Amino acid sequence: MATSSQGSVPAAGRGPVRFLVFAASLRAESLNRRLAQLAARVIEQHGGTVDLAAMADFDGPSYDQDVDAKDGLPQGPDELRRRLEASDAFVIASPEYNASIPGLLKNAIDWTSRHRPQPFNGRHGLLLSASPSLVGGNRGLWALRVPLEHLGARVYPDMFSLAEAHRAFGPEGGIANEQLAARFDRTIEAFMDLVEAAKHYPCAKKAWIEFLGERPNAVIDRVE
Ligand SMILES: Cc1cc2nc3c(=O)[nH]c(=O)nc-3n(C[C@H](O)[C@H](O)[C@H](O)COP(=O)(O)O)c2cc1C
Repeated sequence: MATSSQGSVPAAGRGPVRFLVFAASLRAESLNRRLAQLAARVIEQHGGTVDLAAMADFDGPSYDQDVDAKDGLPQGPDELRRRLEASDAFVIASPEYNASIPGLLKNAIDWTSRHRPQPFNGRHGLLLSASPSLVGGNRGLWALRVPLEHLGARVYPDMFSLAEAHRAFGPEGGIANEQLAARFDRTIEAFMDLVEAAKHYPCAKKAWIEFLGERPNAVIDRVE
């Protein structure tokens, strides 16, 4: 099993894992897109496979339940559904708008959540943000956790918010501050380890055991 750089097994031993990565901004000079691109680069450096998407691919009209009932998902949200289903996990770099989720991202989540099977359910997700502010858009990520966790996504406990993002990137697209860059790298790698374990190692999966805590008894135990 692959573990982190503090662990015992090199990343070369990592089982195949595919990550959908995108920034929830349509802006040409988006800081969150730069952070998403960096996340994609780090994931690939650690042996993951990346589908780097653009928010323009997933954008759609405002959610309308009548349109949904008549026509189902429009093209953009259906593309999000398709690419989520093709991935083991997702990474979203999201701006903070008015201390919360950008409307276009919530709209895309709302549309996509109407599909069955519901594509966020059981998928692991990592949340990132970038903002010129001193808190890096972190409040928006707390708001973003709510619909995603409601939908059954396994949202990684650690989040990464890049403060003063307009001057945080170096010329090669990395985070200029070395300690911060290392923290970003470690967060991504630890997330990758969890996703890999959940996908490839049965011991990491949740087992249902009747009479959990009682002395194991091969005759009467029921384990699923
Ligand atoms: C409608 C709107 C609301 C915003 N609200 C916040 C906010 O609450 N907190 C914050 O840190 N930045 C806020 N900003 C500034 C954004 O963080 C900044 O524009 C950022 O660069 C947007 O992300 P992007 O570069 O990926 O498009 C807001 C921007 C807009 C357009």
